Amino acid sequence: MARKKKPEIKGLEITAYAAEGKSIAVLEDGKVLFVDNAIPGDVVNVRIVKNKKSWAEGKVTSIIQPSHKRIEPFCEHFGICGGCKWQMVPYEQQIAYKQQQVQDQLTRIGHIELPELQLISGSPKQQYYRNKLEFTFSKHRYRTYEEIADAGDTILPIQPALGFHAPGLFDKVVEINKCYLQNEPTNKLLAVLRKYTEKHNFQYYDYKAHTGWLRNAVIRVTRTGEVLINIVMQHENKQQRVALLEHLLSEIPEITTLHYTINPKVNDSIHDLEVHTYFGKGYIEETLEGFRFKISPKSFFQTNTYQAENLYRITRNFAGLSGKEVLYDLYCGTGSIGIFCSNNASKIIGIEVVADAVKDAKLNAANNNLTNCLFYAGDVANICTDDFFAEHGRPDVIITDPPRAGMHEKLIQQLLKMKAPKIVYVSCNPATQARDLQLLDEAYKVTRLQPVDMFPHTHHIENVALLELR
Ligand SMILES: C[S@@+](CC[C@H](N)C(=O)[O-])C[C@H]1O[C@@H](n2cnc3c(N)ncnc32)[C@H](O)[C@@H]1O
Repeated sequence: MARKKKPEIKGLEITAYAAEGKSIAVLEDGKVLFVDNAIPGDVVNVRIVKNKKSWAEGKVTSIIQPSHKRIEPFCEHFGICGGCKWQMVPYEQQIAYKQQQVQDQLTRIGHIELPELQLISGSPKQQYYRNKLEFTFSKHRYRTYEEIADAGDTILPIQPALGFHAPGLFDKVVEINKCYLQNEPTNKLLAVLRKYTEKHNFQYYDYKAHTGWLRNAVIRVTRTGEVLINIVMQHENKQQRVALLEHLLSEIPEITTLHYTINPKVNDSIHDLEVHTYFGKGYIEETLEGFRFKISPKSFFQTNTYQAENLYRITRNFAGLSGKEVLYDLYCGTGSIGIFCSNNASKIIGIEVVADAVKDAKLNAANNNLTNCLFYAGDVANICTDDFFAEHGRPDVIITDPPRAGMHEKLIQQLLKMKAPKIVYVSCNPATQARDLQLLDEAYKVTRLQPVDMFPHTHHIENVALLELR
């Protein structure tokens, strides 16, 4: 069915960057308009998609006059795929903007005394920097607004797609031919999967009807030359599954571990499901500064390996270790930060909620011949009790690296009670970090701040803060 076009505003100048990768223009009535895919200096036509009392959201339909700061995007999917939205901005400018974002968020949300930010650490690689990507099979290919409008009253046929979720749409997928985020065999995997599934008419998942077979393809590629693939299917079909997995092994000899997972649930999370090893040892290994890390299919591992080393060096440097410290590594994942600091501390205690990651952390410590590391599985907010700290020793340094939501308030209260001389807070979301720093402000002064760019061409930014007991 034809979609009715909403009215366009023509010739609007984009004036500034805003949070979350958006930019701003001011409408005639003074209302602030947020848009994606435009940068300050662009003059654009915009279609309003959300109109609230004090702000509006628009979709750029065309760029009348590009900002002189723009550069040519390198990817054919630019503007449609939600992946590398800032390709049109030179990298130097991207990181300058991220530095400003950290400053703004810490100031506006935190309202606390801050030291001067150290200069942002840029990623050594700006393409092919990810070690993990997750592609989605969907029965419904994403079609652009223009494609649908141009079709008029013609009913467009349903088309499957293998790629990334279209921004803001859980059921539609942007077909990806070539992605610049990960080293090969990633693009080869996409081509092989597409050709084989088309030939055999294997059904892609329908995210609204919950029908179909193929759901996700996760690929991890390490610097050590290992390749782990996990194909997620809605239900078991042994004949089809074996045929597909054998085909992948024959076409992609780079694979070192091949998994499959049956996910009959409504959501895509595989954390509560069994991941079956079809081929290989069932995990891959990565190295950071001479330390080896085992990565299982469900474990978190920093996705930009090249920059993870810098992030961990900054964290270790902020911790200012002498070799005598009891160091707690909260939200430790596979134990990577603690292990990275292990030669400079007397004891490391890591806590992580994903049980498989904790198993990996223990193995990682053993594989690196470390005897001073202990890891515990569970929610940090529940594990970090007075008794736990009494049993393992008062912390000299606490390193905390929570997910985007930041730390649970119960944990913050516990940290205030524990009064470790130093806390190093590694954050992937400066907004929640600012909130947490404000809560910690009664006992801690922020003495160092260092933004680190882990995700070029996106608005995401990591920030490391050193907090010292007042
Ligand atoms: C940003 S990652 C950091 C992991 C690790 N520090 C690293 O650099 O690889 C956050 C980690 O916190 C874990 N996590 C999330 N919520 C948690 C909770 N309530 N308690 C313990 N760990 C949690 C996640 O599973 C994930 O491994």
